[in-house]
Amino acid sequence: MKDHLIIFDTTLRDGEQSPGASMTREEKVRIARQLERLRVDVIEAGFPAASNGDFDAVKAVADTVRDSTVCALARAMEADVRRAGEALKGTDSARIHTFIATSPIHMEKKLRMSPEQVVEQAVKAVKWALQYTDDVEFSPEDAGRSDITFLCRVLEAVIDAGAKTLNIPDTVGYTMPEQFGQLIRTLRERIPNSDRVVFSVHCHNDLGLAVANSLSAVVNGVRQVECTVNGLGERAGNASLEEIVMAVRTRQDYFPCETRIDATHIVPTSKLVSGITGFPVQPNKAIVGANAFAHESGIHQDGVLKHRETYEIMRAEDVGWGTNKLLLGKHSGRNAFRSRLAELGIELESEEALNATFMRFKELADKKHDIFDEDLHALVSEDALTPHEHYKLLSLVAHSETGEDPYASIVIAEDGRESRAESSGSGPVDATFRAIEKILASGAELQLFSVNAITSGTDSQGEVTVRLQKSGRIVNGNGADIDIVVASAKAYLSALNKLHGSLDRAHPQV
Ligand code: KIV
Ligand code: ZN
Repeated sequence: MKDHLIIFDTTLRDGEQSPGASMTREEKVRIARQLERLRVDVIEAGFPAASNGDFDAVKAVADTVRDSTVCALARAMEADVRRAGEALKGTDSARIHTFIATSPIHMEKKLRMSPEQVVEQAVKAVKWALQYTDDVEFSPEDAGRSDITFLCRVLEAVIDAGAKTLNIPDTVGYTMPEQFGQLIRTLRERIPNSDRVVFSVHCHNDLGLAVANSLSAVVNGVRQVECTVNGLGERAGNASLEEIVMAVRTRQDYFPCETRIDATHIVPTSKLVSGITGFPVQPNKAIVGANAFAHESGIHQDGVLKHRETYEIMRAEDVGWGTNKLLLGKHSGRNAFRSRLAELGIELESEEALNATFMRFKELADKKHDIFDEDLHALVSEDALTPHEHYKLLSLVAHSETGEDPYASIVIAEDGRESRAESSGSGPVDATFRAIEKILASGAELQLFSVNAITSGTDSQGEVTVRLQKSGRIVNGNGADIDIVVASAKAYLSALNKLHGSLDRAHPQV
């Protein structure tokens, strides 16, 4: 029997910390359901002390998920731990993850605490957390740059206090794989009570080494890896779940452990996360990139046709490529629609909401022959946002013709009040954005504009992401439509809606 490698997914917490990736409660629940289907062991649902919205989202995930442990993050502060405990109340399997920084630079410059105070606070935090659950995880933040003797001291103390999992973060993505593996080995050997806990790692990708560092730690005895779908996360992201899982699975000759992940859900999960956050997946990304299993050169194709294993170490279908093909079309009835939503883990709030989404599905099916799962997710995402929209697109005319200036005329409702504007621009999208700005004068700075086809075929819906920055806040807005200029207008307004909503949330690590 091989050891079990615990997969701890932090897409909803650390992933969400990447600028612009914030998700609504409904979106978090949808992703959590998909992570449960993927058979992730632990889902870190968020940081409840950040805001009331974050608290509600963690609570909603905890109330929904049954087959994975739900975890909430808390700084080593009593109020944070209490919020985490309250958000998880009633969950069958709840974990509190508490942390405090242990590197000299973080203790001195960020916390302004002495090493003694840090040890004391870490122990207190674990004890507070134990009042809510016996499943407590502790992380010494910035462990990769911490003094090893001090690390041993803190970790020994929190084990004695009752922590069950010790997570070693490479917070700034600084370490090298061999060095990180050695750090884990040394901690396990030098901490006298280390056999009472599961060691875990949490690696950031600043030098592109998050997966390599995590796997090196696994070889050196770690039995939990913290990771995110598509490697989403602050700065260069976290270790990518799909790469960790498939490395361990593909190289069973090398790794002494296995996961319980159902890999056939990897690609649908990747698409769901990318669709909801608006962070596209690069085509050559391992496992989930569009080209990950495509063979271009004639020699490779010939080899693969003769014998697949000449150039392929995994099968595309094993990670879920091609499994999303159940189609709905304009003749599909409400029952087929309802049951496909249920299979995708999408529950609409009421019969009324189902009717409204079904009407929009019919409108889409009139324009587009086959409706794929990705189209349904895009429909539902849009419907979930619509009732709370401050700015709403009512109509758009965009004109482009060779030799003529592109031009757009738009009608927007602002809190129910209609306004109209026209503008020319260097292209129809530019003209549309200028027309919107003529009405709303947001003054926001456009940081990113990207268009992706949601499915294949020229009748695919275009999914547009717009990233806006204003007064230090960064938001992503998404919009989907068969007409990419309309999708762009929706995405721009969706970003403005997010900027408009006041969002007062604390960042756990700042
Ligand atoms: O990167 C990090 O150190 C973290 C901690 C909160 C575990 O995300
Ligand atoms: Zn992190």
